[in-house]
Amino acid sequence: MSTATSASSLFSRNFRKQYPVAVRGEGCWIVDADGRRYLDASGQAAVVSIGHGVQEIGRAMAAQSGQIAFAHTSQFHSEPAERLATRVLALAPRNFQNGGRVYFTSGGSEATETALKLARQYFLEVKQPGRYRVISRKQSYHGSTLGAMSVSGNIARRAPYAPMIPEWGHVVPCFCYHCPFDKTYPECNLACADDLDVFLSTNDASTAAAFLFEPVVGATLGAAAAVDGYTARIAEICRKHGILLIADEVMSGMGRTGKPVASQHWNLEPDIILVGKGIASGYAPLGAVLIAPRVVDAFEKGSAAFMHGFTYQSHPVATAAGIAVFDYLEAHKLFDRVTPAGQTLKNVLAGVEQHPNVGQVRGLGLLQGIEFVKNKSTREPFPKETGVAEKIRQAALDKNVLTYPTQGCVDGVRGDHILLAPPFIITPQESQLIADAIQYALNQVFSA
Ligand SMILES: Cc1ncc(COP(=O)(O)O)c(C=O)c1O
Repeated sequence: MSTATSASSLFSRNFRKQYPVAVRGEGCWIVDADGRRYLDASGQAAVVSIGHGVQEIGRAMAAQSGQIAFAHTSQFHSEPAERLATRVLALAPRNFQNGGRVYFTSGGSEATETALKLARQYFLEVKQPGRYRVISRKQSYHGSTLGAMSVSGNIARRAPYAPMIPEWGHVVPCFCYHCPFDKTYPECNLACADDLDVFLSTNDASTAAAFLFEPVVGATLGAAAAVDGYTARIAEICRKHGILLIADEVMSGMGRTGKPVASQHWNLEPDIILVGKGIASGYAPLGAVLIAPRVVDAFEKGSAAFMHGFTYQSHPVATAAGIAVFDYLEAHKLFDRVTPAGQTLKNVLAGVEQHPNVGQVRGLGLLQGIEFVKNKSTREPFPKETGVAEKIRQAALDKNVLTYPTQGCVDGVRGDHILLAPPFIITPQESQLIADAIQYALNQVFSA
């Protein structure tokens, strides 16, 4: 059964699209109401880590709900939220140990909003009230609420709301395949990182509160990871200008790139880390803001009260789901599977990378992107109207493989890629099915 949205009561994402109805999940597979089985090569949107249909998670949520489903955080703390906070902090970078804290939200956008306000209030607490701007990067995505949109650099997603969102400054991303300065690493001497220094030095750094970025850019750049040295230089620039460093790991965190958070690939110690998606593997709406002791201390010594809050923050059932997911990840050693499974996926995609219209297969662990180009030697993208990424998605769907297409990686408008982010339990056979479906899609889309 497909639901044409004209026959639906839901205000769907796209009224012209027909949506199959998902009724069941089994491991890396989703089954629709007609019994069709889809291989979830994108973990939906890089969400599902432990796989679909794990019964223990639902049982843990039901047990928590049977005990106490909800208690407002203005009046109570709950045991699952406390326990999950401790578990998450234990995996965080060293500077979060001994006094770090966690603020649970209902997803990534709320985590970004929370971080923006946290950075602002931090500077009120430390008596620097002039600081409020959060600088971020072009071709980035940090969420769909207005605060999160203001830091996002995704041109298409910002465009309709431009009059409603402030512009605090966007610097270039670290993206060697389409280097914004046409340079080559390492001879570039990290000009992209220095762009932040140049920006702050010429745009009243005294009003800046923080720099926010994705160490591995998920949706907007198709799994483009920072190069060695980039994050260290960024941290140094943030220190020099006295601003906080926020790592948005909503997509890259919670094991997806082979480390608990991607910042750990470079021993980066941000002041604030955002996670979401994988933290509850899609079993409950959950996100989190990890806050380093330095920031916590400022609140403790200052007003001691964060002027911010959501009714559903630290939700007992959502955090119980998070604990159950953690238990499952640990019991099945799934964090350890990510790097080898990512390598297997990369290996089977080697043939795909040979295709004349595939520019690059890139990524870390089980966050992989495939960029499509018109000209492999010049890396020229297709015109936006060609809609290549969406055509690839549709063709892969003929083979029942779900991918995550996006446009705009080159300049915010042009540039087509798909994201692959399967559950950590993906088998070599399933990886091969993904590669075969993409090979088929390339033949379909580029043979015409
Ligand atoms: C890096 C990043 N930050 C924030 C978000 C927003 O998260 P959510 O959609 O859960 O609000 C996303 C979502 O894709 C993301 O990829």
